[in-house]
Amino acid sequence: MIELISSLGDNPYFGAGFGLFGLGTAAALLRKALLVGSVVFRRKCLVSLEVCSEDKAYKWLLHWINAYAASKSQHVSVETVFQQSQSGKVSTKYRFVPSPGNHLIQYKGRWIRMERNRDRQMVSLQHGTPFETVTLTTIGRSQKFFRKRKSLAQQMALQQMQHGTVVYQAVGHEWRQFGHPRRKRPLSSVVLDKGVQEALLMDIQEFISSNQWYIDRGIPYRRGYLLYGPPGCGKSSFITALASELEYGICTLSLSERTLTDDRLQHLLNIAPLETIILLEDIDAAFVTREDHPDPYTGLTRVTFSGLLNALDGVASSDARILFMTTNFIDRLDAALIRPGRVDVKQMITYCSDYQLETMFSRFYPGEEGTRLATKFRLALRQCFPMVNVSAAQVQGFFLLHKNDPVSAVSQVGQLKTSLKMPTSSARV
Ligand SMILES: Nc1ncnc2c1ncn2[C@@H]1O[C@H](COP(=O)(O)OP(=O)(O)OP(=O)(O)O)[C@@H](O)[C@H]1O
Ligand SMILES: [Mg+2]
Repeated sequence: MIELISSLGDNPYFGAGFGLFGLGTAAALLRKALLVGSVVFRRKCLVSLEVCSEDKAYKWLLHWINAYAASKSQHVSVETVFQQSQSGKVSTKYRFVPSPGNHLIQYKGRWIRMERNRDRQMVSLQHGTPFETVTLTTIGRSQKFFRKRKSLAQQMALQQMQHGTVVYQAVGHEWRQFGHPRRKRPLSSVVLDKGVQEALLMDIQEFISSNQWYIDRGIPYRRGYLLYGPPGCGKSSFITALASELEYGICTLSLSERTLTDDRLQHLLNIAPLETIILLEDIDAAFVTREDHPDPYTGLTRVTFSGLLNALDGVASSDARILFMTTNFIDRLDAALIRPGRVDVKQMITYCSDYQLETMFSRFYPGEEGTRLATKFRLALRQCFPMVNVSAAQVQGFFLLHKNDPVSAVSQVGQLKTSLKMPTSSARV
């Protein structure tokens, strides 16, 4: 036996075969080890996120990748959006997104492998497009990195979507969105007297953030504001701008509407969508009795005073309920309506003060010249119309006649007179 083994050892063919066998085994072992190693590495040292095209986050993620990481990628596919407005005007927008395949992208010093797979056999039932998945992989152990990226992508998408204030109008017994969301109006575009805007904004923000305070004390979580003053001084404009600032919608209702009854008013106030400002315009209309004003609509019921009080008392929910009311005639309002709980904050919005005139001028004509001429404009206006109150709407209308020319707005301020319909008020406010 020993002889046999030693003769085999001397046999060169056997030695070569045995060597090859050993090498093959070693190679197989190495492959296995590498395979196991790569699985272990993938499991322990890599994090990955897979999002499929059916998920809402899919588009956000692609856009985020496109905006932040893949703009330098050489392999992109185009995504074209075709839009037709209601007037028939057609416009197209396109953007590049990473094409299907593998991409290596760098974000904030970190390498991310991105794999976009398109399954040609499966089609999304929702959109009729091929089913896709995007997988992001990076070195690390925690999901935190992807959570953060996903919420960034989400924010980005929401920012693109939120570009308007939704206005609701009452149709029958429900609130319906009125037209398209309105372009947001910045608060700075409405010029009220010094400090007024800031005080109202602070009050409302404080109210929105004190949910628990109201619950603890059992106080209905609502706050009523009354803006009163002459027409065209900015009541409605301010409320619109405030809603934009708070990212709230507006539910608007005019109490002078002939078909509004007590029941309908109460119902509508109770079912108003959350995160909206309820705006009751012309609140004094509920006080006009038919005897005072002979009415061509005799026979139609209208909102009564007690109906309005009941409706206001019923407005409460666990979410902040903000109610704005406007009137041109505060003296026609009953004390019961303006008592705290129904109206918590009363604010007069009246004719332009000197501060407003100057601020409106410098905002309308931004730049050095606007700032320099603002006081001149105010003095010229007051000199031309010493005993006349001017509303912000009139001033704005006048500026529009001299859109690009602040100098002529000052020199021709006398033109404003043509639009002034009530030149007799004795005192300037
Ligand atoms: N304080 C202001 N700052 C800037 N623009 C104003 C201001 N007040 C009014 N305007 C402009 O005048 C127009 C009418 O204003 P708005 O509808 O807000 O007046 P209002 O006080 O609600 O009047 P009404 O009592 O008749 O409802 C709007 O186009 C608005 O842009
Ligand atoms: Mg108004």
